[in-house]
Amino acid sequence: MDKFLIEGGKRLEGRVAISGAKNAALPAMAAALLTDQRVVLRNVPRVRDIGTLRSLLEELGVDSSVTHEERGNRVEIEARRLITPVAPYELVKQMRASVLVLGPLLARFGHVRVSLPGGCAIGARPINLHIKGLEKLGAALKIDHGYVDATANGLKGALIRFDTISVTGTENLMMAATLAQGETVLQNAAREPEVQDLADLLNRMGAKIEGAGSDEIMIQGVSRLHGAEHTVIPDRIETGTFITAAAITGGHLILEHCNPDHLTAIISKLSEAGVRITCNSAETASRVIEVHSNTVFSAVDLTTQEYPGFATDMQAQYMALMTQAEGTATITETIFENRFLHALEMMRMGADITLDGRRALVRGKTRLSGAQVQASDLRASACLVLAGLAAEGQTLVDRVYHIDRGYERIEERLTRVGASIRRISEDRSLPFPLSHSSRTSPQSARSLALSVRCESPQWQASPLGGV
Ligand code: EPZ
Repeated sequence: MDKFLIEGGKRLEGRVAISGAKNAALPAMAAALLTDQRVVLRNVPRVRDIGTLRSLLEELGVDSSVTHEERGNRVEIEARRLITPVAPYELVKQMRASVLVLGPLLARFGHVRVSLPGGCAIGARPINLHIKGLEKLGAALKIDHGYVDATANGLKGALIRFDTISVTGTENLMMAATLAQGETVLQNAAREPEVQDLADLLNRMGAKIEGAGSDEIMIQGVSRLHGAEHTVIPDRIETGTFITAAAITGGHLILEHCNPDHLTAIISKLSEAGVRITCNSAETASRVIEVHSNTVFSAVDLTTQEYPGFATDMQAQYMALMTQAEGTATITETIFENRFLHALEMMRMGADITLDGRRALVRGKTRLSGAQVQASDLRASACLVLAGLAAEGQTLVDRVYHIDRGYERIEERLTRVGASIRRISEDRSLPFPLSHSSRTSPQSARSLALSVRCESPQWQASPLGGV
């Protein structure tokens, strides 16, 4: 498993081009299943999750091709026919968003078997609301041997109210309803920009959707959809991550090809904490966010919320910044029940954090020291990279396959703006012990390496043996 070796304390300076949004590209690729004609998606990010969904589509018998373009990839998908209605466990377990094929396949082909995604590091993440909604549209669904088996003899429009706001739940039902007979109304729907972007694509394919981006979406079913071309929106979470990278290193970054309007809550919270951010005017074709150098931040409480509130996918990155802020910040995670695994790893770097269920108390400013840490999920890995950039000495982030799922070659883009970060692939020997700042005596570095090794059994197995 690849690792990142980060030398902290480097100030970031320069320009970063923001990629297309993973969480907009994935439902857009699933939407191509709703027609037998070609759907062309542009500005698609080159991240592992896109590859996983493409493998799933090919497994189903769908043709697709990828062309490298200046801005992301151009992905062409043509679901002329289906060779199997089964989305297998091997692929679905790699990426929960695979469940997004359920609605489109059921609506178009009337039968689909999708593996249940199973548990996830950040929470139970059931799909009961997807299933309940499809039943409301007239489908018959049963759980069988770890699979959702769904059949429908033509879906019928219905009024569906979500008990809990669900992003992919809204997307799945919106896609299914496009080919249902009559009108469907989704209430308490997700308002994320990615949901709106999907509705824009579906309307280009001939769907009749109104209200996307609000909490009530109306879909007038049509008999068939046609092909279309669509450019995916910029990734607002990647944008937020780079804003935080600039801030936590006291750097100056200009982020291009982003859309500041999609992260107003994130920008306002970071500004409240002292991050100096300016955006060019909305009239400008290519939107830019500039993060100006600053090194003094104040602790500000945060509660994650559904859009347009502060995104849970930015909570971990925000926590890293709060370790460098003056005072105590309370971070409350309202969306997922187990999304503080990054905090435990940052404590290994010297962060002063107390966890209490869905609340974390972060005391700062604390001096982070480089250590060996392990990523548990996509956004936790982004947090550990940010902490490594701010820490003294070297940090080794393990399991960076998590970050590759949603960030395009992040180590190369950070290196281009001055970070010292490199990918160490599985078979490369690790530069033990990690070197730390001059203030850390060789003895304490040695004891740190020793202590790390003892703590985590897998190190005992390390071929490098004694220090
Ligand atoms: C989407 O996941 C995103 N993924 C997630 O981003 C993001 O964290 C999440 O929305 C919240 O913003 C994609 O878009 C591919 P939910 P999703 O359904 O749709 C509960 C990242 O880092 N719930 O909105 O799976 C659920 O357990 C990823 O890029 C049910 O109880 O999230 C959670 O507590 C991580 N039953 C809450 O609702 C259901 O049937 C919100 O989940 C569905 C959801």
